[in-house]
Amino acid sequence: MALSQAKKSSDSLIMGIESSCDETAIAIIDTDKKIYANDIFSQIDLHQLYGGVVPEIAARSHLEVIHQLAEYALSNNNLTLQDIDSIAVTAGPGLMGGLMVGVNFAQTLAGILDIPCYGINHLEGHVLSVRLEHDIPFPYLVLLASGGHCQILAVRGVGNYHLYGATLDDAAGETFDKIANLLNLSYPGGPAIEQAAKNAQQIFDFPRPLTDKANCDFSFSGLKSAIRRKILQADTLDAQQVANISASLQQAVVDIFQHKLQHAIAFFHDDFPEQQKIPIALVGGVASNQFIRQSLNDFCAQNNAELYCPSPKICTDNAAMIAWAGLEQQMNEHQASTITIRPRWSIHQPQENLTEVSHYV
Ligand code: KG4
Ligand code: ZN
Repeated sequence: MALSQAKKSSDSLIMGIESSCDETAIAIIDTDKKIYANDIFSQIDLHQLYGGVVPEIAARSHLEVIHQLAEYALSNNNLTLQDIDSIAVTAGPGLMGGLMVGVNFAQTLAGILDIPCYGINHLEGHVLSVRLEHDIPFPYLVLLASGGHCQILAVRGVGNYHLYGATLDDAAGETFDKIANLLNLSYPGGPAIEQAAKNAQQIFDFPRPLTDKANCDFSFSGLKSAIRRKILQADTLDAQQVANISASLQQAVVDIFQHKLQHAIAFFHDDFPEQQKIPIALVGGVASNQFIRQSLNDFCAQNNAELYCPSPKICTDNAAMIAWAGLEQQMNEHQASTITIRPRWSIHQPQENLTEVSHYV
């Protein structure tokens, strides 16, 4: 079949597929970082009734929409399946049912088209996502803050990650979600808290757990409990109180991030003494918060570092970051091989180690 009009013959197009949790996502990008499609079907409405993601409902929904979403991504760009040169699919961490739908779909397509298929670690997708939109060279520091993870890593190169620290309990995004629930705000909690915090006062001095420790580990459960107590003590919860609690929570999270990045910068200096100005990438859903971005931007300016953030649509779960991680592997001549689905899979340990405990929920 002839190449469609939309694609230059020199481009190498990759399709990204993401189905690890409650979003089905398909993206098509090329080696020049052009994003043709970055489409997402969110299942939030399906799970809201149950107060959390129901794995069976998630898997069924992925199965129902994945074909249509892929067809839409292609046809909307005057592309056909034959224009796709490779595929990248999330192979973990995440919910087994959703991962199976995505990986089976990807491998079937790749088999029919006789093209390579890369199994991507979802966290690696987030960590490399910043390079899709910015020319940020290796090595760089990453603060990954999402609904299931909160960790700081040194990124030495593709597939070469060193963990400086991670959360011992809840993730940052999870904290926003749980507090938003207590405040009767909508799900996901992060955007609702950010909105509520506008023009509010940071009057509550909530705890900043583990900031007295000279390491990069996080803990958010004490912060969550303190806010829960504050809410239970309040006679009424009016809009101004909700706003003030939201603003105080955001400030506590910023302070925790800054403390931990301070230690990470010192570790990074020891590991890469030749690096003058340290590039810091803030990635994952929480990175779409403008208050946190601005605060960390100021912090970096004062600490001889430079902050890079993906655009909001690349911060929250999407398939463009999975496609990009696939292209990064391809450009580094990693071989696409048989894909093993790994519901638990950290990025800083060898892939063979399947027994480690991931913080994904
Ligand atoms: O990266 P992501 O889309 O999914 C995971 O891999 O977990 O992150 C989702 C998390 C949710 O907890 C959500 O509340 C949080 O990111 N989030 C935000 C904002 N937008 C999404 N947190 C704070 N401020 C936001 N604007
Ligand atoms: Zn994610």
